[in-house]
Amino acid sequence: MICEALQKDIAVMHKSSAVDLVTETDQKVEQLIISSIREKYPTHSFIGEESVAAGAPSALSDNPTWIIDPIDGTTNFVHRFPFVSVSIGFTVKKEIEFGIVYSCIEDKMYTARKGKGAFCNGVPIKVSGQEDISKSLVLTEMGFKKDAEQFQTMMANIRNILSIPVHGIRSPGSAAVNMCLVACGSADAYYHMGIHCWDMAGGAAVVREAGGVIMDISVPMPKNKPSCLNDYRPIALTSVVMKVFERLLKNIISSYIPSTTDP
Ligand code: IPD
Repeated sequence: MICEALQKDIAVMHKSSAVDLVTETDQKVEQLIISSIREKYPTHSFIGEESVAAGAPSALSDNPTWIIDPIDGTTNFVHRFPFVSVSIGFTVKKEIEFGIVYSCIEDKMYTARKGKGAFCNGVPIKVSGQEDISKSLVLTEMGFKKDAEQFQTMMANIRNILSIPVHGIRSPGSAAVNMCLVACGSADAYYHMGIHCWDMAGGAAVVREAGGVIMDISVPMPKNKPSCLNDYRPIALTSVVMKVFERLLKNIISSYIPSTTDP
């Protein structure tokens, strides 16, 4: 459906701001996914980006829940910039059980199931294992909220990371694809301020199963439990940092501004 839509004119609508875009295809893809899953699993719950935008609740319960981003990278889709994905994460008792990210234009299907590994088009993938931040490629996204304080923090983070120096910073424009790029070792880290659960639920499963780490730097790390980096809580996530060198990057991204709109 997404690839077909790319061949036609794309009508753009706006959500929270003039740069927060949505299209009819976002809505249609989400309806298709939800209705086909609901037919088979009528008791399951859903958190979908476009349903939430239309007023549906966004609360994670213990019930089996599908967390869906029908088009992650809508701005890319509108511009035909080739990183556009469908992201689905499935939780039971608030734990991610499996995740799927389909990068439509690249035709790459990333899949991961708890304890069973991560795959790209069926081939096993793993994170880079890079431990030296000065030899790393770091991904980030600029997001939509550009108030003065957030803008300053975002620019300061980029300046700090570039000054280490790292090999480079990239911003592909789809959070789910970014996570999969970390999962398959094409990048070493990805950090993002103000990410939503539907942007990262599918990719989170892929990263973890590929041997990566996900952390929410807004949640203090208990002293007696350094392994809490694995204590992934999607409902609490307003920011995500995933990387194989989490200790170093955590020191760099010191000022964090929580989003008030995230579930
Ligand atoms: C967006 C993309 C983008 C990120 C935004 C997300 P959407 O998702 O992942 O890379 O910067 O924060 O909201 O809106 O295209 O589904």
